[in-house]
Amino acid sequence: MAEIDGMIRPTINRIRPYSPGKSSAEVMAELGLEKVTKLASNENPLGPSPLAIEAMREAAAGVFVYPDPQCIELTAGLAEMCEVDPECIVIGRGSDEIMHMLGLAFIDPGDNVVFSLPAFAIYPYTARVMDAEEIGVPHVDFRHDLPAMADAINDRTKVVFVSNPYNPTGTIVTRDEVAAFMDRVSDDVVVVWDEAYMEYAASGPDYPDTLQYVREGRNCLVLRTFSKAWGLAGLRVGYGMGSPEIMGALKQVREPFNVGLMAQVAAAASLKDLDQVPRSVANNDTGKEHLYARFDEMGLDYVRTHSNFIFVDTGMDSVECFDGLMRLGVTVRTGDIFGFPTHIRVTVGLPEENEIFADALSAVLGK
Ligand SMILES: Cc1ncc(COP(=O)(O)O)c(C=O)c1O
Repeated sequence: MAEIDGMIRPTINRIRPYSPGKSSAEVMAELGLEKVTKLASNENPLGPSPLAIEAMREAAAGVFVYPDPQCIELTAGLAEMCEVDPECIVIGRGSDEIMHMLGLAFIDPGDNVVFSLPAFAIYPYTARVMDAEEIGVPHVDFRHDLPAMADAINDRTKVVFVSNPYNPTGTIVTRDEVAAFMDRVSDDVVVVWDEAYMEYAASGPDYPDTLQYVREGRNCLVLRTFSKAWGLAGLRVGYGMGSPEIMGALKQVREPFNVGLMAQVAAAASLKDLDQVPRSVANNDTGKEHLYARFDEMGLDYVRTHSNFIFVDTGMDSVECFDGLMRLGVTVRTGDIFGFPTHIRVTVGLPEENEIFADALSAVLGK
């Protein structure tokens, strides 16, 4: 073993394994429950579009053939929807994979990566796996502090990650804040606008159009995913948009057949369902208002969200709260992993799931 230990790149030992939380199957087996309401990973409770399911049925018998390495049909659909050139798009096995490609293509040992704290786990991972330094900039009032992030950039900074909406708090940075930030950032840094939850926020008047910077040829990478509003988390498919030069670099390091056939056909078919996103957003809007009302009744502080999850201060130890909820058949994320020991992050579910969660929380808190 000692020999192997010495062979592993030292930076790999700095990587903290991603902790996905307990799966529903684990919780059911551990507690003998018949059903678990999973509100832990910000998935879409309405599930995928019927068009996606139909497309997968039709494609299933063809999975013995490798998928299209260039994802031509899906890329064309995205190019039309987002009004960008197909050569400005890259498809990944989830947007996570595109962040990994970015690290491989751009980050040298000794470079650094800037992001807000708390951070989505893949940002520090991307830095560590490439032996880069992490520069974490504290949030202010649950929001990214973009001026402080611009101050933190130095001559070894390669990448800045901004999740907008911000996971885990659900806040956004506005159009004007983004414009002021882009005015300050020079083009030797790649700014990643991680818009995994943008569909839930995009109708708001202040939500930025970051594709404008891509069209202007700025060094940006806009990341989006089919895992959230499109309801395809289990398939792993996301996409990135940026200049043809950035895309070219990402494609150099991309695995040849990185996106499976099912993922490609389901995502492409989903784009034709013009109601998938509006119905998901409508369920979310109703659900979040209902949850706010329940939190108000319990006297709890929460962050008003632009996303499909709510960050709420339970006033008790978040791990104990999680355990109490789990025993009642509900899973959420604990805030301790984000540095908030009394918060939990709960995904907005179906109306009946929100009710089950709120009743369980009220029981756990004795309120
Ligand atoms: C902020 C943020 N970015 C990216 C992702 C990853 O999405 P994907 O499923 O496309 O890899 C998530 C998933 O939870 C997320 O919360």
